[in-house]
Amino acid sequence: MIYGYTEGVRESILQELERMVETEFERDAYLPDRLLQILIHYTTVTERGIMVYLARDGEVLDIAMGNMTAEGLPELHLRRNIDRLSGIRLIRTRPDGGARPTEADEQALQLLRFDSLCVIGVEEERATGISASYLGELEYGKMSIHTLGPVKPGRIPQSLWLHEIDLADERLASAIAEGGITVKKEKVLLVGIESEDSLAELAELADTAGAAVMGKVLQKRLKPDPATFIGAGKAEELQLECRAQEIDLVIMDDELSAAQQRNLEEIIGVRVVDRTALILDIFARRAVTREGKLQVALAQEKYRLPRLVGKGTALSRLGAGIGTRGPGETRLETDRRRVRRRIDDMTRELEGLRRQREMHRARREKTEQVIVALVGYTNAGKSTLLNALSGADVLVEDKLFATLDPVIRRVDLGDNRQCLLVDTVGFIRKLPHELVEAFHSTLEEALSADLLVVVSDISSPYYREQRDTVHQVLRELGAGDKPCIEALNKCDLVPADAFFEPADAVILSASTGLGLDRLRAAIADRVSKLRRQIEIEIPYQKGAALSLLHEKGQVVSEEYTATGTKVTALVDATLESRVRKLLEN
Ligand code: GTP
Repeated sequence: MIYGYTEGVRESILQELERMVETEFERDAYLPDRLLQILIHYTTVTERGIMVYLARDGEVLDIAMGNMTAEGLPELHLRRNIDRLSGIRLIRTRPDGGARPTEADEQALQLLRFDSLCVIGVEEERATGISASYLGELEYGKMSIHTLGPVKPGRIPQSLWLHEIDLADERLASAIAEGGITVKKEKVLLVGIESEDSLAELAELADTAGAAVMGKVLQKRLKPDPATFIGAGKAEELQLECRAQEIDLVIMDDELSAAQQRNLEEIIGVRVVDRTALILDIFARRAVTREGKLQVALAQEKYRLPRLVGKGTALSRLGAGIGTRGPGETRLETDRRRVRRRIDDMTRELEGLRRQREMHRARREKTEQVIVALVGYTNAGKSTLLNALSGADVLVEDKLFATLDPVIRRVDLGDNRQCLLVDTVGFIRKLPHELVEAFHSTLEEALSADLLVVVSDISSPYYREQRDTVHQVLRELGAGDKPCIEALNKCDLVPADAFFEPADAVILSASTGLGLDRLRAAIADRVSKLRRQIEIEIPYQKGAALSLLHEKGQVVSEEYTATGTKVTALVDATLESRVRKLLEN
């Protein structure tokens, strides 16, 4: 969808521009030449400024038309990268031929912390000049603007201008570190109808997203109100509270329909998002690999599709936070089609990646590596534990969901034995169903593991509930009967004589290393018992049992006798009981 002032522009032109969204330009050029030519062309035919939001990897994130007026400024959903540049380069044309940033441009650069702002003056179908602006030094509590150029097209110092982004990033970081500019967090109010616990978790999520939680409101109701979720009266109360506390954003603890969200925004007078949008936002920032990013993007589109509305601001707010005006009714269908097309494309690409992953997995299984998966509530310390056990360096952060992509490491268990240890995405209550679906392939790693290590953070007052959630999610995923070891982590934060359930759990601290040997020994012990060799005769009419053994176990030898196939195979307990059950029937 093209944001901004598009009225009166031919549909075919909008469609052509729209096709450019998600196109990837070369990442090593500040202003790729092909992009420059395209921008000159469309600025000339539409006689309007065009703004392209370019990610660092060269992908076009969004396109808007018109001027950079205060009203037309993109509104960020939740401020990303609170202490860094936004990671987005704004490239815009000026149809009046001016090649320098206007005052509104500079304000946008300061406010939204673009990596850089590139202004291209266009006149008579050619570029008059090109300039690049960056956040400069700290002056009187504000970042100044540092502009290079304008230069003639063809004379752009591409790598130099790209390098300037790193310098601007450093300037911003040191300005913040020195306390020269205060990082303004978005003030949020949390509202729920279920329980304090659920709100406490939402507060942690909001904190992870970089917001300042100003208050929590619990409005116990048996059933949500269809129009406003919390009831119109309560919404009016919230309006007063938001005004008194200068709240920027209300986050609801449950999923809202598009209508509920709109009604609430109207009554309360500030933006309202739901838990799912918040979680998606966090996931979007955390995903690292292509697959992780695609999974989140897909979940976001699925969340967005039923919420596409006509006029208004709701859509633009959801649209990666960029652009402020929603599309007119006539464009609604086109938008829906586009979102559906994106969903199809992403699903297809993910399917390919999943097949690749399956092949890898099959190869791992063939090499007889035992796979142990770390599962646990988000922030329990899985990544830290993986590092401690394998000496690997995986992103560890005291933020929820640092792990979005499965990470696999080899771990030495002593006596010449090894296993593969897989880190998985953190579990959480009310994980949006879009995400469960999206992360299924990540979770499949856990499901296909031979042994699970369930990690819990015993320093959390909610550790019992969190452990229950983990086991419940495992059951829902069909992994309830997998062999597992309970690891109670962060024991350095609790009194040494405290008692924790379950009694047979390994108590340890991934950061101090206490108890790691015990965990290693427990894993080694379980692993040695996991796959054992069985000899079994399978009658010829029980072909299914034989296929199952081939598929899930490891067949060492087969001998054909008069009555059936005599098989020697390595199996785990679950597989053995499944095979034996098939033989009984
Ligand atoms: P997700 O990626 O959200 O699922 O988190 P995770 O379970 O992988 O947690 P991670 O390893 O990122 O650890 C979360 C925080 O807990 C980090 O700040 C760690 O330093 C801290 N942490 C992990 N283990 C321990 C421990 O044994 N003791 C203490 N005091 N802190 C720990």
